Amino acid sequence: MSQTRHVPVMLQRCLDLLAPALETPGPPQPVVVDCTLGLGGHSEALLSAFPSARLIALDRDKEALRLSGERLAPYGDRATLVHAVYDELPEVLARLGIPKVQGVLFDLGVSSMQLDEADRGFAYAQDAPLDMRMDQTTGIGAAEVLNTYPPGELVRILRAYGEEKQAKRIVSAIVREREKEPFSNSARLVELIRDALPQAAKRTGGNPAKRTFQALRIEVNGELTVLERAIPAAVQSLAVGGRIAVLSYHSLEDRLVKQVFAAGAATTAPPGLPVVPERYQPRLKLLTRGAELPTEEEVAENRRAAPARLRGAQRIREEER
Ligand SMILES: C[S@@+](CC[C@H](N)C(=O)[O-])C[C@H]1O[C@@H](n2cnc3c(N)ncnc32)[C@H](O)[C@@H]1O
Repeated sequence: MSQTRHVPVMLQRCLDLLAPALETPGPPQPVVVDCTLGLGGHSEALLSAFPSARLIALDRDKEALRLSGERLAPYGDRATLVHAVYDELPEVLARLGIPKVQGVLFDLGVSSMQLDEADRGFAYAQDAPLDMRMDQTTGIGAAEVLNTYPPGELVRILRAYGEEKQAKRIVSAIVREREKEPFSNSARLVELIRDALPQAAKRTGGNPAKRTFQALRIEVNGELTVLERAIPAAVQSLAVGGRIAVLSYHSLEDRLVKQVFAAGAATTAPPGLPVVPERYQPRLKLLTRGAELPTEEEVAENRRAAPARLRGAQRIREEER
């Protein structure tokens, strides 16, 4: 595997955010979970920066697990790689007999490997079967979504997950076309979107198919639904003093993370109490002011970092009883 294929995004900042929770020499041995192993860039840096820590790394993509397994082999049993969707984190930890962890990292979205492998259908720049499943062993692909969903549902998906203003126009064209012949490949969809959009809409925002592809990918993988369960579950799995860092790549993901962190950092006391009892005190302390962005230098070197938004939080209290 080429090491230049994927440069981990905002790597040093992620390590710095998690460091205070992982630098303890143990026992007990600190545990850090990388919920999005991908090609193992962040995971390898975690293992090397925190020599006393044990890494549990999840990915729903078996190919990612295979490649990273080779990369992380030198770390032996300090690294445990698991094929799982990240909202299964509580079950994975229970199976491994780990009650609480000291660090959690999420680097959301698709990996450069998934984008580079043309036959998986994530990239609008190459003609490929419209699949887009991160886990190719389960679920339905993008072609089936396009060919079978009712028009209203497609419009909702394009608007909500792609923030596509021209959703109705695109969906009308899709429905017209799929009646002639079902969709199977990406090039036909890209061409249809290009033809369907008015000139003005094509002048802004890069490739006009980008938003539709993002929307389909989010739908096919149930990304926001899974994330909505996964972030609270990850916070729940943190020991007091444990830290979580999340890298998002679009506003919907970032908004969700922001809401969960903000809720954890707020008191749950009914308004008007003169003294806030312990059980209503916040469970989280925010470690980032708003979302942190990559530096201009990083974006110049790694275009994939451009949309990144990083948020961190620390667990400061046990669950209320
Ligand atoms: C951006 S990549 C991670 C790259 C990694 N940080 C690195 O440095 O190589 C995101 C990875 O998360 C995985 N992924 C996305 N959603 C997931 C989910 N719900 N559960 C488990 N893995 C997921 C994808 O398959 C992909 O391999």
